[in-house]
Amino acid sequence: MRKVVVVTGANSGIGLALCERLLSQDDQIRLCLVCRNTEKAESARSALLASHPSADVGVVRVDVGSLSSVLQGAKILKERYKQIDYLYLNAGIMPNPQINLKAFVKGLFSRKAISMFATGEGLLTQQDSVTADGLQEVFETNVFGHFILIKELEPLLFHMDNPSQLIWTSSSNARRSAFSMSDYQHRQGLESYSSSKYATDLLSVALNRHYNKEGLYSSVVCPGLVMTNLTYGILPSFFWTLIMPIMWLIRLFTNSFTISPYNGAEALLWLFSQRPESLDPLAKYHSCTSGFGDSYVTPVKMDLDDASGLSFYEKILDLEKQVRKRVDRGN
Ligand SMILES: NC(=O)c1ccc[n+]([C@@H]2O[C@H](COP(=O)([O-])OP(=O)(O)OC[C@H]3O[C@@H](n4cnc5c(N)ncnc54)[C@H](OP(=O)(O)O)[C@@H]3O)[C@@H](O)[C@H]2O)c1
Repeated sequence: MRKVVVVTGANSGIGLALCERLLSQDDQIRLCLVCRNTEKAESARSALLASHPSADVGVVRVDVGSLSSVLQGAKILKERYKQIDYLYLNAGIMPNPQINLKAFVKGLFSRKAISMFATGEGLLTQQDSVTADGLQEVFETNVFGHFILIKELEPLLFHMDNPSQLIWTSSSNARRSAFSMSDYQHRQGLESYSSSKYATDLLSVALNRHYNKEGLYSSVVCPGLVMTNLTYGILPSFFWTLIMPIMWLIRLFTNSFTISPYNGAEALLWLFSQRPESLDPLAKYHSCTSGFGDSYVTPVKMDLDDASGLSFYEKILDLEKQVRKRVDRGN
């Protein structure tokens, strides 16, 4: 049977590069682009069909920052497909990023300079907002909306005979110190992105505990530092172009500067051809690019444990109940 692959945030950056690479590797897959903007999704679809004219590429509109949109999109997916083999949870935002110049200058002259460039640790702050569902926007988009999508699609994802995979685009910017179990939506702080990516990692660990027996496996990926709309929100594209020679130089010391969306998608594509049972649920799979431009994948142990994953899972289940109730009352 043809594999069904669903990708959120598929209209640009890493998501679009992944779709292109998936079709180049296997043009028999049934690919579905899940995007919030239909026009952008249709133009991504046209671009993919231009290079793979016989491919089966569908579009479903979902805004993962809105529960009602997720429910509507999941309903369409359930009508269209009998099963889903791969669900790439890739859509993500980092709104209003600000660079902490003081931390940057301090880090530049410290022993942590390379790791600061590689992970963005302590460098970035964001200004979050609240969605119509009453949740923090970064949390709802990067984590909760995707969680609800998974829950809604469970009947299509559970198949013991041929295990299916959830593949999250996390980040090396996911940091335990930015996350708090008592403020898991990150209402208080200024590092909502880092917190949301740590929450993603915790959730993936817990999902494995709950779903492996149903034939569903979850993994997290870091695509490295990639030039996309997300990074162009931090600094304008001309600035990145200006410092590109420095980035190539740094790439000799840290292989996390993948730079192109094609290279950034390496670990996402690699997972497509892995037996999910053989993967380490506590590892994050990093896309890496060497100083000579060769791409490869490296697993790195995450800074978390099973128990924290399970406590976060209880909290997100609780939130799901509350939000669904609120949305039902509104209908
Ligand atoms: N670029 C990096 O260096 C980097 C590093 C680590 C992790 N990541 C992660 O990689 C993933 C892909 O990002 P990218 O770098 O490829 O940036 P991008 O080009 O901005 O892609 C983000 C995608 O997510 C979509 N999206 C955002 N909010 C959405 C929503 N509410 N509902 C549905 N779709 C939504 C965007 O759609 P629109 O076009 O409509 O906005 C876009 O398709 C993100 O999860 C990001 O956090 C990126």
